[in-house]
Formats: sequence, C-alpha cells, structure tokens
Amino acid sequence: MQPSSLSLQDIRRPIEGELESFRTYFRSAMKNRVFLLDQVVQYLLRQKGKQLRPVLVLLTARACGGVTESTYRAAALVELLHTATLVHDDVVDEADRRRGMFSINALWKNKVAVLLGDFLLSRGLLLALENKEYDLLHIVSDAVRRMSEGELLQIEKARKLDIDEATYFSIISDKTASLISACTSCGAHSAGADGATRQAMNQFGQQLGMAFQIRDDLFDFGVKDVGKPLGIDLQEKKMTLPLIHALAGADPSDRKRIMRIVRQKKKSRTDVETVAAFVRDAGGIDHARQTMNDYAERALAELDRLPETDARQALADLVRYTITREK
Ligand code: IPE
Ligand code: IPE
Ligand code: MG
Ligand code: MG
Repeated sequence: MQPSSLSLQDIRRPIEGELESFRTYFRSAMKNRVFLLDQVVQYLLRQKGKQLRPVLVLLTARACGGVTESTYRAAALVELLHTATLVHDDVVDEADRRRGMFSINALWKNKVAVLLGDFLLSRGLLLALENKEYDLLHIVSDAVRRMSEGELLQIEKARKLDIDEATYFSIISDKTASLISACTSCGAHSAGADGATRQAMNQFGQQLGMAFQIRDDLFDFGVKDVGKPLGIDLQEKKMTLPLIHALAGADPSDRKRIMRIVRQKKKSRTDVETVAAFVRDAGGIDHARQTMNDYAERALAELDRLPETDARQALADLVRYTITREK
C-alpha cells in the first residue's frame, strides 16, 4: 500500500458533508462571553488538528447503520475532550509547540492553559447532559478517567525510570487508546448497532489507538517537523517502546551509558542524538514499527464483521494512514 494513496481527504470523502456539520456544531459549543477565554478559543480554532477522532466517530456510525443526531454530539464531545487533554498535556510536558503553532501555555502561560482545558472539558460534559446522552457520557467519561490515570502512571515511571514493555502498553492503552476506542464505541452506539458489533468496534478502536500512539512515539525519534517538539519525550524522561526495547537487549555498559543521559535534567542536542543512534542501532525503531503493524493488523481484522461499505473501506484506509502518517 502506497502512503500517497492514503490522504486524509480521501478517507473523509464518505462523510464530507457530515464533517462540515460537525465543525459548525463544534465551534458553537466553544462560544462564551469572557473576552480572554474567547480570544484563546479563537486561537485554538486556527490551530488546525487532524480531527481524526470526529472522523472516526462519523465513519464508524456510517459503517454501522448511519449517522444520527447522537453521532454529531459524540463527535463534538470527543473532540472537545481531546482538545482539553492536549492543552493540559502541553502544560504537563512543558511543550511550546502544537499543530505547527505556539502552544497555549507558550503564549498565555500555564494558568490560562489549565483553565481553558477545564472549560473545554466542562463544555463537553454539558453538551452530553443537555441532550440526555447518558450512554455517550458514560463511555467518554470513563476514557477521560483512564487518560488521567495513564498520564499519571507515565509521570510515576519517568520519576522512577523502571518502565518495562508491559507497563508501556498499559500507559498508552489508558492515555490514548481509551479515547480512540470511545470514539468507535460511541459511533457504533449512536448508529444503534447491536452488542456484538459495538464490542467489535470497541476492540477496533483499542487496537487502532495502540498503533496510533506507537506512531506518535516514533515521531519523537525522528527529524521531520511534525508540528510539535521533537526529542521532548526524552527531555521529559518519558521512555517509550523504541528505547525500552533497545535497553532491554543492551549489554550493561551500554545500558549504563544511555541511562546516565536519560537521567540528566537537561539534555543537549548531542545527548538526544546519541540516544537516538543507540536506539536505531539496537533495533528499537524496527521493533516498535513491527509492534505497531501488528496492532494495525488486529484492528483491520475487527472490521471483517461489518458489511462492505464505503465507510468500512475508509476505516480500513484510516488504519493504514495511522501507521504511515507524517504528522
Ligand atoms: C495527539 O493526537 C495526541 C496523541 C494521542 C498522540 P493527534 O495527533 O490526533 O492530534 P491532533 O488533534 O491532530 O493535533
Ligand atoms: C499523548 O501523549 C497525550 C494525550 C493522550 C493527552 P504525548 O504527550 O506523546 O502527545 P503529544 O506528542 O504531546 O501530542
Ligand atoms: Mg505531549
Ligand atoms: Mg508524543
């Protein structure tokens, strides 16, 4: 499969019109009367994200019977919560770039970023409540709980530096796959799918989410501009799959040499490059790629139970896009 044949534009085609309605709904959900808040919200709307989660909600609903009013609410809800967690994540990670622009904390400082995140989170919860979407609210709130737990476990491991592969998988399952599987669960639920289909779509999102975060973690070892800082995971002592795997197979002297760099509070560009070269040479990148591809295969297998439609095809393309994407 050629990456060039997998543009997001093509993937979105079956739900192009629905996505426009979603965008209008999403913008209106962020309306407010506080001048400072509105300024930041306007900036946020110019920071174009990929909107993969709403696309997933809409495509899953279409593949499972059809988009309904509930589907739009679910799409807006997940994008609001996703945006809130990114704004908070950049405070936690001390990241100054997001989506090719300055992050909120870089421009308005942490105080505003924390409160903006809370505002977006509350808008999402209210949107669900106002429409009595209790099932959607339940699915998504559970994902938000897991995201917080995942990020906290990640901090704990960055302090103790005792992370192993199993713990890494548990972290990314909670911090990323939880929300992505909430998207596909809500999509299926909003379309009135039966229990078995909903279960399969939940699993589809889970496997896709794992592949998605491994791809993201691989970016950090690269040199291509992806619109956010590179090498920042290492700066923050966040050890991800490529490094964990490389260290597990390394001899004691190499392990000591690399861990000494990881432990440093500030790392120079040379330090980051030294670690990246070690990880590459030890096969850490290849291992992570292979693991990511395995998750993608498992995600694709879950689609088998759906009828063959343009939306199912687009979901399969979205899996392939996830593992080949460049941002
Ligand atoms: C970034 O998600 C956060 C992760 C889970 C890695 P996206 O890559 O979907 O972010 P945007 O919304 O497109 O900016
Ligand atoms: C994912 O982790 C963040 C969330 C799930 C909120 P990262 O910290 O790797 O995400 P990016 O790279 O900053 O987007
Ligand atoms: Mg981050
Ligand atoms: Mg990242």
